[in-house]
Amino acid sequence: MAQLWGGRFTKATDKLVYEFNASIGFDQRFFKEDLQGSRAHVRMLAKQGILTEAERDDILAGLDGIEADVESGKLEITSEYEDIHSFVEANLIDRIGDAGKKLHTGRSRNDQVALDMRLYTRSQVLYTEIQINHLLHTILHIMEEHTETIMPGFTHLQKAQPITLAHHLGAYFEMFRRDELRLQDIYNRMNYCPLGSGALAGTTYPLDREYTAELLDFYGPTENSMDGVSDRDYLIEYLSALSTIMMHLSRFSEEVIIWNSNEYRFVEIDDAYSTGSSIMPQKKNPDIAELVRGKTGRVYGALMSLLTTMKGIPLAYNKDMQEDKEMAFDAMDTTNGCIQLFDGMLETIQFNKDNMEASAKNGFTNATDAADYLVNHGVPFRDAHSIIGQVVLYCIDRGIAIDDMTLDELQAISPVFEEDIYEAISMDTCVNKRLTVGAPGKEAMEKAIESYKEYLAE
Ligand code: ARG
Repeated sequence: MAQLWGGRFTKATDKLVYEFNASIGFDQRFFKEDLQGSRAHVRMLAKQGILTEAERDDILAGLDGIEADVESGKLEITSEYEDIHSFVEANLIDRIGDAGKKLHTGRSRNDQVALDMRLYTRSQVLYTEIQINHLLHTILHIMEEHTETIMPGFTHLQKAQPITLAHHLGAYFEMFRRDELRLQDIYNRMNYCPLGSGALAGTTYPLDREYTAELLDFYGPTENSMDGVSDRDYLIEYLSALSTIMMHLSRFSEEVIIWNSNEYRFVEIDDAYSTGSSIMPQKKNPDIAELVRGKTGRVYGALMSLLTTMKGIPLAYNKDMQEDKEMAFDAMDTTNGCIQLFDGMLETIQFNKDNMEASAKNGFTNATDAADYLVNHGVPFRDAHSIIGQVVLYCIDRGIAIDDMTLDELQAISPVFEEDIYEAISMDTCVNKRLTVGAPGKEAMEKAIESYKEYLAE
């Protein structure tokens, strides 16, 4: 047990207490960020005359040595140390002696861990954004190819009106674009440096906080030291953004699962992205989509966990805050992994255009347009709605589509029908007459695609 704070204690820590308290098992994940923060801190201390240049150089060389040895496997991060901060400091002192004992001048583990977590989260926010951006490219690519691929649009999972695959995927483009913008907002709000907040009340050393902030690529220092050490809002915002991303991926997964089912056969998932059954030889299961849908819960769990941890914590640092890490790390890994796998599945998926179009045709998705036809011929909408209801009933009884009815049959229900009804309710008309902003008509869709391209080019 290597501890930094043994001075005022007369007894050794109980073994179980030590293990309960330790965080090295998970905070070693930001070993690099811890070194990065220490380097900036020590440069600033020397610039301010708090350390000599020789001390600074010794410490920097010591930190480099620790990094190299950990990377080569010569030095192992073990549970002998309470946390990653203790590991680095203890090893530094072992290597360079007294100068190493000066690294922590004007710093507390409270602002140190606040910095490390922020640096780590900041790079994860960027990583998630890159992944989402790639997914947006994949979606846009499919959209471009399928502005004429007709499929049923659903409400209540009942066929409603015909749309195109481009239109359907455009809805997901919108969702993931909002996710990307949300990540950018979070980045901009979180990009302030807590280093120099000390334990809670700053320090009497003449620290230059602007300088460390600049060295670490922050916009500037955080403006209240109590908040600096105890703010985890940025992490809550990020977990909330990850939860929203997972919610979107999960909805999309649910659709892929439905589309891949034997009854729908709208899509064929690539062999590389499906799995088989150990007993049923005919099976090809959409496991990736199911796992993405299933993993959504643990990301929400991380958000709920941190919100709950934070709700009762008085200012400033309390050890509860060590609980900000494990589930958050899991949520980051989970979401980043899910985006990547979902993206790969989508890039390789095959769309069965014929099945999609046949499904749109066979589900009375043109019933609204048939009613609109009557309205255009002077029938009040409520009456038109009722007439088409009778038409649909007639078709259901005979197992046919509205288009399959003869003009005589149609006129027997309403004399308003003329020969041009067939043209008016063709799938092509139903989709391509819908040209308002955001609608599935080809011209409207092409405009949307143009604007998405511009967005991605920025
Ligand atoms: N492992 C601790 C954490 O994750 C580091 C900060 C320790 N600070 C303290 N006052 N005990 O929060």
